[in-house]
Amino acid sequence: MMIDTHCHLCKEDYENVELVIQNMNNNKMIAAGVNDNTNKEVLELIKKYPTVYGAIGIHPTEVGISNHNSLEWVEKHLKENKIVAIGEIGLDYHYGIEEKEKQIDFFRKQLDLARKYKKPVVIHSRDAIEDTYNIMKEYKDVKMILHCYSGSMEMAKRFLDLDVYFGVGGVITFKNSRVLKEVVSFLPLDHILLETDSPYLAPEPFRGSKNEPKNVLLVAEAIANLKGISVEDVLDITTFNALSRFDLNESL
Ligand code: NI
Repeated sequence: MMIDTHCHLCKEDYENVELVIQNMNNNKMIAAGVNDNTNKEVLELIKKYPTVYGAIGIHPTEVGISNHNSLEWVEKHLKENKIVAIGEIGLDYHYGIEEKEKQIDFFRKQLDLARKYKKPVVIHSRDAIEDTYNIMKEYKDVKMILHCYSGSMEMAKRFLDLDVYFGVGGVITFKNSRVLKEVVSFLPLDHILLETDSPYLAPEPFRGSKNEPKNVLLVAEAIANLKGISVEDVLDITTFNALSRFDLNESL
């Protein structure tokens, strides 16, 4: 079994999402929403497809079109069956620096919800790693996943001290991802989760084309090569990690 712990499967992402889900051959995936519309679509997807689980949340680049009703909606639907996390949330100063204060406010409020409802959080951080870390440090009791980690080795060690899990995706297969390869070589496998961030970041040899959850196998192969272990071991251990981090055992 393998689990794609982070993908986007909404209408704007795929023309034929059913085919994309079928291509996973009964393996599970966690579809993440980013705003009001996609969060609602995530709810529809998890009801329709047994292998799809959901994360709902307001993404930092979407705070401009969101308001307190968006957060209330997220809170209200956290209890739904198969909603396994709050996400995708976080900070993005690359695309949203002018709304920094609102981003920080939404990030904190969603971490508060995670604490209140004991849900894990899936965190996006771009050009904002220090602020992300400083806020996460206050929420050590929350189960946190840094999705598509792209920071330094030094920061990886600091996040590991917070018991953060690291989502590793297609970037690990890119020739120029030297720092990430060093980080993943260093990270203990028990803190790594497989993800694709589909439809983005397709792994080699599909770089530049539309990504799909089934490509999570290519990510597992790249990690196996880096660590000098078998793909089966990578799949077994990362699946175990995903089941425990997202409390999936009961719902499987
Ligand atoms: Ni994403």
